[in-house]
Amino acid sequence: MNKIKNLYVNCKVRFNHGKGYIIAVLPSGKVIPIIDLHMRLLEYISQESFRDKICCYINDIEPGIDPNKVIDIMIDNGIIVESEASYQWPGMTYGASLIDKEEEDAVLNVIRSRKLFRHENISVDGYKYQPKCFINDFEERIKKMLDIPHFLAVSSGTCALDALLDAFDITYGDEVIIPSFAYIGIVSILIKRGIVPVICDIDEFLMLSSADVEKKFSAKTKAIICMHYRGRAAQIHSLAEIAKKNKIILIEDCAQAIGTSLNGKMLGTFGDAGYFSFHQHKLITCGEGGGICIKNSDIYKKLQLITDASRLFAHRDILPGIPGSNYRMSELHAALGCCQLDRLDGIVSKLMELYEIFVSELEGLEKIRLLPLQPKEYGGVQSLCLQVKDRVIREKLVEYTRELGIDTVALYTKDSYHHDIYLNWAYAIEKIGLVDSWVNDRDRLHEIYPRTLEILSHTITIPLGIGVSKQSAYQLACDIKAFHNNLEG
Ligand SMILES: Cc1ncc(COP(=O)(O)O)c(C=O)c1O
Repeated sequence: MNKIKNLYVNCKVRFNHGKGYIIAVLPSGKVIPIIDLHMRLLEYISQESFRDKICCYINDIEPGIDPNKVIDIMIDNGIIVESEASYQWPGMTYGASLIDKEEEDAVLNVIRSRKLFRHENISVDGYKYQPKCFINDFEERIKKMLDIPHFLAVSSGTCALDALLDAFDITYGDEVIIPSFAYIGIVSILIKRGIVPVICDIDEFLMLSSADVEKKFSAKTKAIICMHYRGRAAQIHSLAEIAKKNKIILIEDCAQAIGTSLNGKMLGTFGDAGYFSFHQHKLITCGEGGGICIKNSDIYKKLQLITDASRLFAHRDILPGIPGSNYRMSELHAALGCCQLDRLDGIVSKLMELYEIFVSELEGLEKIRLLPLQPKEYGGVQSLCLQVKDRVIREKLVEYTRELGIDTVALYTKDSYHHDIYLNWAYAIEKIGLVDSWVNDRDRLHEIYPRTLEILSHTITIPLGIGVSKQSAYQLACDIKAFHNNLEG
């Protein structure tokens, strides 16, 4: 088992869009389709009980296949190898990795209460929640943390955005500004509704460029969606100013950034609305889950109806009402979420401590720059973003850190696939007419947002997780510094 802990991916791994194959490109250049797997496989590789997790995963999606054989094939082909790593780097470890007896008890108690649905916990007189309603508790606590009048728990971050589009009457033919590097689900929701995504470049901090937003306005622009990337804040002050000046709605995607603040003000509260995800891979998790924070009480009421088709009983004042869907959270998810909320401060401060180690160790390097936080920014930074001077250094640094056992990612290379980059939003790209055919015109796509690709191609990311020890962080920072100082020229 000890040996297995030091396995790491030894090749470029591509995801064959739409089919879910992982194609491994070996250092020799040979291409091997591994098996119908999902990209999350890669995340497990960085976790401690690698083989157990990978086996469960393979069993889940490909019953009948012997997972150990798959792993052996990968080892035989050099796709995963034992590293000489002298330290562990469980880089994608957040709230889910802390799930413990508290979560178990809380969920079990909900099961035993037999009240799994939010409104089971409502008193008949006056629609007040009883003290034991976990969803209510979850919402109240986040509302307090964000210091905002309303917070509504829903079933996912994607549902949260979907509901917000309805609540703000953003509809077919309207334009919504989004960054060229963003979660692909944002684009899907817009396209699905016939809303036109207007793609803007990113800035050097990898997030929506306010300069480009200013250029891309039209009379049809209804909203801006900005995304806070992996616990770090977008240039939210300037975006809020632009939105206000032009009287358009600003929605903050905080799915990856719960707990991050700028000068004490929490992300999600700068725009007209913010939304969060409590998916397994987020800082804190309900398994699946999401939430919306909002200041405007009328929009909040609308959201309650939009996300809960049967809720009209509580809002007879806005009859004939608003047609809704069911995006409700269950008590089971909220029970988990409440326990995880207790852990949030600890998670954020651990990630911040790790990040600070790199800030102090990598300061002043000429050819490698650690992407800085904004003044008075504090949050659960989930990736070190290292910007390098040129692509040769990028390749060398990726290889070097991978050999140390780190799951380093070059955000953009010609032959990699990253579904957060506009290049790979096939259906959106065709629908909005950037190219006729995503398959045939891929090369032309590189010319549309060259600044985005330039920035991404100079950036590599190293995942930070709460399972990483401060000692390992310090050691890696020293290794990167040594790598830098050994570079020629
Ligand atoms: C930036 C961002 N936005 C939105 C979402 C969607 O959240 P969910 O998976 O809860 O629908 C995610 C989840 O991966 C995300 O990372």
